[in-house]
Amino acid sequence: MSTTITPQLTQNLPSGPSSSALWQMLQWIGRPLEFMEACAYEYGDLFTLRLGSLGQVIFCSHPQGIEEIFTADPKQMDAGKNNSVLLPILGNASLLLLDGEPHQRQRQLLMPPFHGERMRAYGSSITQITEAVASPWQVNKPFDVRGAMQAISLNVILKTVFGVTNSERYQVLQQLLPNFLDLTGSPVGASLLFLRGLQKDWGAWSPWGRFLRMRSQLDHLLYQQIAEHRNQSELGADILSLMLAAEDEDGNPMTNVELRDELVTLLLAGHETTASALTWALYWIHFLPEVRDKLMAELATADLNDAKGIQRLPYLNAVCSETLRIYPIAPITAPRTTKIPLSLMGYTLPIGATVAPCIYLTHRRPELYPNPQAFQPERFLDRQFSPYEYLPFGGSNRRCLGMIFALFEMKLVLTTLLTRYQFQLERSQPLKPVRRGVTLAPPSPFKLILTQRF
Ligand code: HEM
Repeated sequence: MSTTITPQLTQNLPSGPSSSALWQMLQWIGRPLEFMEACAYEYGDLFTLRLGSLGQVIFCSHPQGIEEIFTADPKQMDAGKNNSVLLPILGNASLLLLDGEPHQRQRQLLMPPFHGERMRAYGSSITQITEAVASPWQVNKPFDVRGAMQAISLNVILKTVFGVTNSERYQVLQQLLPNFLDLTGSPVGASLLFLRGLQKDWGAWSPWGRFLRMRSQLDHLLYQQIAEHRNQSELGADILSLMLAAEDEDGNPMTNVELRDELVTLLLAGHETTASALTWALYWIHFLPEVRDKLMAELATADLNDAKGIQRLPYLNAVCSETLRIYPIAPITAPRTTKIPLSLMGYTLPIGATVAPCIYLTHRRPELYPNPQAFQPERFLDRQFSPYEYLPFGGSNRRCLGMIFALFEMKLVLTTLLTRYQFQLERSQPLKPVRRGVTLAPPSPFKLILTQRF
């Protein structure tokens, strides 16, 4: 189905800027926050933008509208098709690209490994990886926080999701994956994905040729990894082992191609996102001394060997929640295209309309979050927010599969760093997010100085 809305129906859509589609796309890419804020100021809770291959997209930042989208029949809302630009990286079987029954089947196979109880098995790996990344830092020397957090989150995925123990393969993947993923993070890489005309293999020196060679090297390593796991006599604790053991309702396990595509999907969805969230958290904790003091007071009374207890620390939880509120990693959820007319805050949207709950604008509503531009973890201690008011991980049948994993990792990494090291900002200046692929990330470089080891 096409995502373009027929002209006679566009009059039923909420209004939006009349500037050219190209200009709107440029604003969305280059100044996403300012653009969303200006549109919300001008048009309110619902507005329609024209965004390149997605066509017209209706942004919604009102909890009532978000509830209407999230509670609509998921079978009638397609999101996978809107991600098709990622196909060369992820492959046909990727959860991010599927819709309908195939999406539901794949999600059911993938959900059990991400269950909360399972996560705790990864606690010691996360702590060890954090210490290994931090060990070369020198006292009174600055280090690049984002680079360090990326190294932590990549290693956590290699160990706990891919289950890589073979040290040679580990090292090759460690080198290969950041370059492979750069295709979605860097502007040059992204233009390769969006401009199909550039997707020509003119040998190893052409950008697309380089990508294809990296992909076949990666696939070779992943299929080796899958084959080894299949031959294991005992089921490992890593997520790949659990994926191998999973069966659908008819008793069918995942094929090798499905496993490969889901591994790359988990990597793409989980690596940069968690690294950005951790970088922001470290920034806010050190930018606001009162936040740091309160957090350190809570950590001083905590049992640091009890991963379950750490997950439940109220102030640490509030700091992580506020980090993901003020600058959500994804400014919007995956855009959904409706297969039946959708009722949205008084509008009846036609078949083929694409809607996007706007996480950033919803998180900035002053009646929900007074003084929304201030970082105030206390707001999460004082009240509970509904899934339509606070949605850093999206919602409904597309809600982030790795939500529990990401929060667990954030809390353990922060606890490990803050209780073993002391830091200060290299420069105390406010940071504003920059676009990184489809996400919003802290600007690079952002540096902390290690002042003391405990
Ligand atoms: C702080 C870190 C993270 C944030 C903020 C985040 C946020 C999101 C958001 C907003 C979505 C789209 C949800 C929607 O459209 O309703 C999503 C989807 C997804 N996320 Fe995450 N994510 C994070 C970490 C992770 C991790 C660690 C993993 C796995 C290891 C992961 C795996 C996925 C997958 C597989 C999907 C697609 C779900 C589907 O389409 O059914 N994410 N995430």
